[in-house]
Amino acid sequence: MHWYGLGPVSVLPEYQRHGIGKALIQEGLSRLKDLDAKGCCLVGHPQYYRKFGFENVTGLVHEGVPQEVFFALSFDGHFPQGDVMFHEGFKANGQQGAAADG
Ligand SMILES: CC(C)(COP(=O)(O)OP(=O)(O)OC[C@H]1O[C@@H](n2cnc3c(N)ncnc32)[C@H](O)[C@@H]1OP(=O)(O)O)[C@@H](O)C(=O)NCCC(=O)NCCS
Repeated sequence: MHWYGLGPVSVLPEYQRHGIGKALIQEGLSRLKDLDAKGCCLVGHPQYYRKFGFENVTGLVHEGVPQEVFFALSFDGHFPQGDVMFHEGFKANGQQGAAADG
């Protein structure tokens, strides 16, 4: 299928609005294209990701997530349909590592 997930993207508050988030997203998308990706999905801010061409796609959903914050960007103009599941790695929250260190 060659669709990927992107994010979460986060920039420390004192560095926001300096183009860092934009650079991270553009680099991420560029790397996905190098992998011959067909597109990618993410959960994110309802306004921010539209700047990069992401859109809410009818029929493409992520269960339990409001449609207005679930976005997809197609690299070839075609969108799959159905319920999207993200890789287990997206569930990482850093707490496991912290517990192991402590
Ligand atoms: C969202 C976030 C990653 C943006 O990073 P950033 O480095 O501040 O953004 P940039 O400076 O690269 O901004 C890129 C563009 O988006 C705009 N923008 C930035 N934050 C925005 C927001 N919250 N809503 C709408 N537009 C926004 C900028 O004005 C800029 O527009 P331009 O290209 O027309 O000049 C950052 O604000 C953040 O970490 N927020 C908290 C975490 C979060 O909400 N992450 C998103 C969920 S994955």
